[in-house]
Amino acid sequence: MKTVESIAKSLNGKKIILRLDLNVPLNRQKITDSNRIDKIIPTLNFLIKNKAKILILSHVGRPKGKVIKELSMEPICEYLKNKLGQNIHLIKSNIYNFKDEDLFNNKNESILMLENLRFYNEEEENNEEFAKILAGFGDLYVNDAFSCSHRKHASVFNITKFVPSYAGIQLMSEITALSKITKDITRPITCIIGGSKISTKINVIKNLISKFDNLIFVGGMANNILKNKKFQIGKSIFEENCDHIVEDIFDLSKKQNCKIIFPVDVSVSKKIDGKGDIKKINEVQKDDLILDIGPETLRILNKTIEESRTVLWNGPAGYFENENFKKGSLEIARKIVEKNKKNEIYSVAGGGDTVAALNSFNLTKHFNFVSTAGGAFLEFLEGKDLPGIKALN
Ligand code: 3PG
Repeated sequence: MKTVESIAKSLNGKKIILRLDLNVPLNRQKITDSNRIDKIIPTLNFLIKNKAKILILSHVGRPKGKVIKELSMEPICEYLKNKLGQNIHLIKSNIYNFKDEDLFNNKNESILMLENLRFYNEEEENNEEFAKILAGFGDLYVNDAFSCSHRKHASVFNITKFVPSYAGIQLMSEITALSKITKDITRPITCIIGGSKISTKINVIKNLISKFDNLIFVGGMANNILKNKKFQIGKSIFEENCDHIVEDIFDLSKKQNCKIIFPVDVSVSKKIDGKGDIKKINEVQKDDLILDIGPETLRILNKTIEESRTVLWNGPAGYFENENFKKGSLEIARKIVEKNKKNEIYSVAGGGDTVAALNSFNLTKHFNFVSTAGGAFLEFLEGKDLPGIKALN
């Protein structure tokens, strides 16, 4: 892969189309975890130092082709401005209405940002015309968005057909670290999968079973298992039409000797901002929301982590944003850190929400590697060619 660092000397005055993943959690247009933005600062400083002009492209959330004010790039742009101490102009007008001459016409503006790319359906459709328009905005394209390189979207995939394309600094460091991990991994390996992006993960899991000794389901991911096992999950999130996948997961895990663990007790509430009530899994009511794992589940998880040499974690165990439901994620993190400090485990965490949870517990630094990527991290472990990386090759 050609890297942007290898062409440092020729960046002076060039317009760089820089695809980043600034998909950070937002609450009423306030950033609740800035990790993905902070991680990209070295890339921006590198481009600034080499006197390049930068056009930042990113998505945030899943607006599905609609302009949604709450998912504007505005707070992200403001945060970056302060962090870099430099002006960044957020271009809000529709990209079909501006020409490349409109970009960088103010001498004092060397960093620009486009509004959320997913305000256009064409982005997720990997539309060629749309990709061509984006490509026309600069001289070079740099993908520094490892965490969305599993998406075959216009600004990740088709854009590379129309402009010389390079791998970014952060993307290269994620690939290098994750490749090393997959090569040097020590058994027993435990993978903890949670979080709410069920559709992204459930299809990947089947292909990962052969690589793991234990597969632990928590958070939203566990609800599909519980539902399939005919437990009441009340009003909790789950993915429709997944029973056959869940059954395949159990069949395969038997054949491949991978132990599947899922909650035996949970913390529920009637609303997400409520207080927790511990219930055995067969006591959940129709109007309950499962928002965390319970103490007995935690005991089983801790024992499994205790016996593991490697742990990979993607997706929180509960709705950690509410203090009352952070215990599951916090205790898992503490157990991993305890083992890590004794050098008894190799620990890798990935995904926007997992990293946000670890940051809020102030435990990120005690993990061996923390990836910004969630879905991309799992697909990479699966050994799949990620479309965004394949396109750069
Ligand atoms: C992520 O958060 O994993 C990436 O930004 C991709 O987001 P998506 O799952 O909405 O495509």
